[in-house]
Amino acid sequence: MKAGCGWPTPAALILIFNLCFIAPYQLTEQQVCSLCGGTVLNGSAVGRFCSLSAGRIDGRCCLRNDNTSDPEHIIGLDLSNCSLASVDNLQGASAVFMIDLSLNPIVNISDAVFQGFTKLNNVILPQDIVCPGGNASWENVEVKEGNRFCEGQKSMCNQTGQLSIDCPENSLCAPYGPGFFECSCADSFHGYKCLREGEFPTLQVFGPLAASTVVISFLLWVTQRRKAKSL
Ligand SMILES: *[C@@H]1O[C@H](CO)[C@@H](O)[C@H](O)[C@H]1NC(C)=O
Ligand SMILES: *[C@@H]1O[C@H](CO)[C@@H](O)[C@H](O)[C@H]1NC(C)=O
Ligand SMILES: *[C@@H]1O[C@H](CO)[C@@H](O)[C@H](O)[C@H]1NC(C)=O
Ligand SMILES: *[C@@H]1O[C@H](CO)[C@@H](O)[C@H](O)[C@H]1NC(C)=O
Ligand SMILES: *[C@@H]1O[C@H](CO)[C@@H](O)[C@H](O)[C@H]1NC(C)=O
Ligand SMILES: *[C@@H]1O[C@H](CO)[C@@H](O)[C@H](O)[C@H]1NC(C)=O
Repeated sequence: MKAGCGWPTPAALILIFNLCFIAPYQLTEQQVCSLCGGTVLNGSAVGRFCSLSAGRIDGRCCLRNDNTSDPEHIIGLDLSNCSLASVDNLQGASAVFMIDLSLNPIVNISDAVFQGFTKLNNVILPQDIVCPGGNASWENVEVKEGNRFCEGQKSMCNQTGQLSIDCPENSLCAPYGPGFFECSCADSFHGYKCLREGEFPTLQVFGPLAASTVVISFLLWVTQRRKAKSL
């Protein structure tokens, strides 16, 4: 008997949900590099960074692969003079080191745009836009020639004073982009607030779920078959 045939599992439903509703709103690398026309200019900040880093320019991006077997990723993004009024989503560039958003009519940028951008170390903005995560997230903030330069991302995990962040016992704090941090369970700890130690009990949690899915699917199968027979 093929129990549950035709009934999608919760994991499949989550996958379908992601493909249909979340994926379309995340720009791919290619889309980020062609947010506007032109290419990274030779003399620009990103252009200089790119040649120093031995990167390859493609549209508004500087690309590099750290390992010949790995695909290339964006290490520099030059969206200067791009007529951008808002910046909502740069997920395709989450491994980037330098972003130039100068000379754009941007009003404000949500900190969430740079969540997860752990390598970001250099941001150039129109002078009225505050650095992602605020001044406290950067080693050096400078305003000159109409631009704001945010340099050297600071870790939120290691700050003394009022910004110091405590992760729950047995979990480790790790930077997660300017102004963000994440607490991850230390090796061999798991569970709510990482207070328990050991392997995640896959069977205890998913066992009953799988069993009830099988039972419900079987009951539905039986009732459908009865209906079909009585027709
Ligand atoms: C960039 O400029 C340098 C000299 O300033 C030149 O040698 C190089 O060919 C230029 N690269 C491109 C892609 O234009
Ligand atoms: C390249 O890949 C190897 C094996 O996957 C890894 O050990 C090494 O750290 C990588 N090098 C860089 C620069 O990422
Ligand atoms: C910005 O772009 C416009 C055309 O799109 C160009 O005329 C202007 O010179 C550019 N400004 C700078 C500072 O590059
Ligand atoms: C941008 O600013 C406007 C008004 O100043 C505010 O209503 C809006 O929520 C801000 N948007 C973001 C993404 O912060
Ligand atoms: C952030 O730093 C800039 C440049 O040093 C300064 O002009 C600005 O007042 C600072 N903002 C805050 C909120 O401290
Ligand atoms: C954390 O702070 C200590 C002392 O201020 C410093 O020595 C250490 O390098 C910092 N670690 C990180 C990851 O920033």
